[in-house]
Amino acid sequence: MAVQISPSILNSDFARLADEVASVSQSADWVHVDVMDNHFVPNLTLGLPVVESLRKVSVLPLDCHLMIEDPDRWAPAYAEAGAASVTFHIEAAAAPVRLARTLRAAGARAGLALKPATPIEPYEDLLPELDMILIMSVEPGFGGQRFLDIVLPKVRRARQAIQRHGGQIWLQMDGGVSAETIERCADAGADVFVAGSAVYSADDRDAAVRELRELAQRATDSASWVQGH
Ligand code: DX5
Ligand code: ZN
Repeated sequence: MAVQISPSILNSDFARLADEVASVSQSADWVHVDVMDNHFVPNLTLGLPVVESLRKVSVLPLDCHLMIEDPDRWAPAYAEAGAASVTFHIEAAAAPVRLARTLRAAGARAGLALKPATPIEPYEDLLPELDMILIMSVEPGFGGQRFLDIVLPKVRRARQAIQRHGGQIWLQMDGGVSAETIERCADAGADVFVAGSAVYSADDRDAAVRELRELAQRATDSASWVQGH
């Protein structure tokens, strides 16, 4: 089971986004783009025009995390803009199955995001419609927050649900992921890791990504969920 690292540009220098994205392109698998509308979360970041511009310059695929209201209306445009993965919050979606199918039809992977207090169990039946579950390990809205260990039991339960449904769905950890926390995320069942401040505050960003990958891969290789029991 190969792990993936998706650096979040939220804490990067927004005045130099193309260079900031390029600075992780030798080591990362994705670029995590946090779209915030100042309604679903108390922060405003960037939207479709910036994603369209990033798509033209990024050698890495875009992993768009939409922290917005009314994703049913707005999310498909991010897939049409070329985002390779579009994740919407279940707390904001009116018709999540229809939205996931629309995203897939537009050529993107469909991701479902859960805030820390949102359980996974009510959505297990949606899993066949999804390509990824994003479990937030901080309250959405800002980078640089402390990792919430209380979400780890939910990660384990989400991994068990995924394994009941055939196991092709990726499980993404988002928020407070660093060299100090990534191993317990991998041990719990995550296989895709968003890291914002842990990467963008590092002097050598590629080295930081490589270290996160090594820690996560080692923890995954010995994790009980990978051994199938
Ligand atoms: C928070 C965002 C996260 C955040 C991660 O709402 O969804 O992607 O930027 O940044 P760190 O890794 O610094 O918590
Ligand atoms: Zn995010």
